[in-house]
Amino acid sequence: MSGELSGATALVTGATAGIGRAVALRLGVLGAEVVVHGRDARRGAETVQEVSAAGARARFVAADLAEADDVRRLAAAAGDVDILVNNAGVYRFADTAGTSSEMFDVHMAINARAPLLLVGLLAPGMAARGRGAIVSLSTIAAGTPARDAGAYGASKAALELLTRVWADEFGGRGVRVNAVRSGPVRTPGTSEMGDEALRTVARATVLDRPATPEEIAEAVLFLVSSRASYITGAVLEARGGELAIG
Ligand SMILES: NC(=O)c1ccc[n+]([C@@H]2O[C@H](COP(=O)([O-])OP(=O)(O)OC[C@H]3O[C@@H](n4cnc5c(N)ncnc54)[C@H](OP(=O)(O)O)[C@@H]3O)[C@@H](O)[C@H]2O)c1
Repeated sequence: MSGELSGATALVTGATAGIGRAVALRLGVLGAEVVVHGRDARRGAETVQEVSAAGARARFVAADLAEADDVRRLAAAAGDVDILVNNAGVYRFADTAGTSSEMFDVHMAINARAPLLLVGLLAPGMAARGRGAIVSLSTIAAGTPARDAGAYGASKAALELLTRVWADEFGGRGVRVNAVRSGPVRTPGTSEMGDEALRTVARATVLDRPATPEEIAEAVLFLVSSRASYITGAVLEARGGELAIG
């Protein structure tokens, strides 16, 4: 099919739900072939079906990003990709005394180590071909203290720093690397937190509401597109604005 991204192949992690699913669909609408990643095969098949209905090619690859070997298997199954969206992520909430080493490790493994491994396995190929775009999903909690979100915020702060390291490492060979720092979004993941918890975070934004997954997907798609050709190493804030103090 013809489109802004036709001829490109994209891997979207966590594309079985929420923001990742919206990104996968939008990439497909723009003509990219999409490798849909997640763990849930039924929801994976639904995303593949949606992307296919938009006229693009899509296939599902299951992998648990908490397991380094599974991340490597995912990269091998994806093959040569031009676009990598590090979207899959976990967010669990506890105060510091209540944060177990297991909880901390899971955040670091899925939110920071898996993107690190995927970039290490896929970006050299992009660089050898002279083109590529990588976007990772971050959160307000990476830069602002968020109650009970220390492990989550720390893992995404690591991801933001890595984004700038990768931009430097691969930028000279045609690969742009950016992140989107998202505000609260209504997704299957946040619906488990309950509507009031999401509204509390949303009240801390100027726009006073959660985003839709599609609104965050648009920010990702901008960074992937040639319209962002001079942008690398950036963290784009799609957070609904920051309320002034006073
Ligand atoms: N929603 C928000 O308010 C918000 C705000 C800021 C940033 N973000 C970030 O945006 C990203 C997406 O958030 P979301 O709310 O759309 O997520 P979500 O609705 O909870 O969906 C999470 C996705 O990640 C996948 N995933 C989770 N753990 C995985 C694992 N161990 N291995 C493989 N895949 C795994 C899930 O796949 P399966 O279910 O198929 O396993 C699913 O596709 C995350 O990185 C999150 O930190 C979200």
